[in-house]
Amino acid sequence: MDWGLKNRLSRIINPKTGKVVMLAVDHGYFLGPTSGLEDLKKTLDPLIPYADTLMLTRGALRTAVNPDFNIPIMLRMSGGNSIVADDLSNEGITVSMEDAIRLNVSGVALSVYVGSEYQHQTLLNLAKLIDEANRCGIVVLAVTAVGKEMTRDARYLSLACRIAAELGAHIVKTYYCDEFEKVVNTCPVPVVIAGGKKIEEKDALKLAHDAISRGATGVDMGRNIFQSDAPVPMIKAVRQIVHKKASVDEAFELYNSLKKKRKK
Ligand code: 5RP
Repeated sequence: MDWGLKNRLSRIINPKTGKVVMLAVDHGYFLGPTSGLEDLKKTLDPLIPYADTLMLTRGALRTAVNPDFNIPIMLRMSGGNSIVADDLSNEGITVSMEDAIRLNVSGVALSVYVGSEYQHQTLLNLAKLIDEANRCGIVVLAVTAVGKEMTRDARYLSLACRIAAELGAHIVKTYYCDEFEKVVNTCPVPVVIAGGKKIEEKDALKLAHDAISRGATGVDMGRNIFQSDAPVPMIKAVRQIVHKKASVDEAFELYNSLKKKRKK
């Protein structure tokens, strides 16, 4: 691995703990003005100091993030579809590597849809992006998007993660599932989990805890942070789990106490 790639990887995944709390706010690329992200800058400003890395689109980066903030960027590079389409898997590459470099990103992210109609196209998108990123020393995060027809179980997610890693992704983002250790143990690169739809705060903390204790390198969480009743206390509680090995109860206690103080 060359110096630039290693350096970028160490900006994304904290070398002291070997873990990452990535904040995902790229939802607008196919969902439009997602609840909690209508005014992206207002949502992001208080959260950025507690995120190790920020995952978002180029439009969001340019319009909502102060370039003085020294936060590593994971730029979403795939899209071309919307929630009103029948099949979300028909994605292409939407940003050039030249523009990603101009934006000084640490990593680039792209979704693959294993088992969906456009599986072939999205896997070739990933391979192409990896070739370009390798030339420039940029980290590639593959997102294993799951079509409606697929089951989020260890068998399917292991298949999708392993294929992404075999194609050369440096990090894979997937969903938590039963027997999650099977997914991690058969994937040769770090695995981070998405949070998924908003659930109760304690349940989201348990999800993060279960994933970390079964081998995840971190979380790439969005809605369960920015749609929380108290986003900053929530991201701080997630950090305790990811970086400090806090239990679910300890993290939930922290969330509640910070939330209470905030209201005073
Ligand atoms: C969509 C993504 C999103 O970034 C991710 O799923 C968002 O995280 P969360 O599920 O925690 O809101 O990659 O393909």
